[in-house]
Amino acid sequence: MSGTSTSTTVITNIATLVTNDPSLGDRSPLGLIQDAAVVIDGDRIAWTGETSKAPATDNRVDAGGRAVLPGFVDSHSHLVFAGDRTQEFNARMSGRAYSAGGIRTTVAATRAASDGELEANLTRYLDEALRQGTTTFETKSGYGLTVADESRALRIAAAHTDEVTYLGAHIVSPDYADDPAAYVSLVTGEMLNACAPHARWIDVFCEKGAFDGDQARAILTAGRAKGLHPRIHANQLSYGPGVQLAVELDAASADHCTHLTDADVDALASGATVATLLPGAEFSTRAQWPDARRLLDAGVTVALSTDCNPGSSFTSSVPFCIALAVRDMGMTPDEAVWAATAGGAAALRRDDVGRVGVGARADLVLLDAPSHVHLAYRPGVPLVTGVWRRGVRVV
Ligand code: NIG
Ligand code: FE
Repeated sequence: MSGTSTSTTVITNIATLVTNDPSLGDRSPLGLIQDAAVVIDGDRIAWTGETSKAPATDNRVDAGGRAVLPGFVDSHSHLVFAGDRTQEFNARMSGRAYSAGGIRTTVAATRAASDGELEANLTRYLDEALRQGTTTFETKSGYGLTVADESRALRIAAAHTDEVTYLGAHIVSPDYADDPAAYVSLVTGEMLNACAPHARWIDVFCEKGAFDGDQARAILTAGRAKGLHPRIHANQLSYGPGVQLAVELDAASADHCTHLTDADVDALASGATVATLLPGAEFSTRAQWPDARRLLDAGVTVALSTDCNPGSSFTSSVPFCIALAVRDMGMTPDEAVWAATAGGAAALRRDDVGRVGVGARADLVLLDAPSHVHLAYRPGVPLVTGVWRRGVRVV
């Protein structure tokens, strides 16, 4: 097998290959192939199958009886920030409740930071995530809350990912505490104009203490008119209109989904909006877990992501989130691994990542374990021992 200008590599002797193609292997949603091989041609997957049938290639890597799966797709993070909130976390672990107000601490630190400091912080957490198998990530603004600070956050993020989200509506800026309507006008007007060129998505924190349903609808509709597609922080801290608004607006994802009525679950089951669950947030705020089982049983597409941010979920580890989802949210290991790969891709409306299939991006994770189940079976153990991103081995 050869590309004319690219080199080909076969990874052989894979004990369990997760393809996420149910027409392959064991015909399960994960499309598991045993004793498998994968061929990479340039930055794409060119072939999958059994090792004994693998075509000849320029290079050969022996997986040594370990598992290979698609790189994780972390479809929800907040990585353009400065400072940390160690004291707030400590206070929470002594019994204080989490509230959206803590975001103001990070806003102050982020505004005070230079572009270089913000970018260095971002790349530090991206490297951390990459070492744990994340090959695609989304990230948001939301800690600037001025025209200049939001647009620079997006500019910095856009240098590192295509999946950039404008979250000027994270909370009402402290500068507008007495006039939230004026802040919504800014977010839907001058700030949107400055931010839209740098982003693919628009998000809003629809929650008591942040933005109500009417404000959220106005913000997302304004974003859509500028070519940004909606996603929503919905039903995280309390019941509310966010999830149903997400489905109404065909948002790619409703994120958190911790407090859901039956009508919310029905709405998600009837539309194309993915429910993105973020167990790092419930872990770090000692909150009730989202009920993944209820959503899956209703036929909802579920994604799992980190929500990595310095306030509510300071983890960049998708494997940690998989373990939490299996232990505490009613997911099977297969469902959790699917949610962290194909589910994340669905939440970003991508079909070139989150699967190991011909034509997909060659984003792969090699585990120091014979199967993907070990991600939940061996919690806290650094099992990721190899990562390919766009066909290049980076770990
Ligand atoms: O997704 N919910 C809103 N935003 C973040 C928290 C941000 C923060 O506390 O700094 C979240 O959990
Ligand atoms: Fe978030």
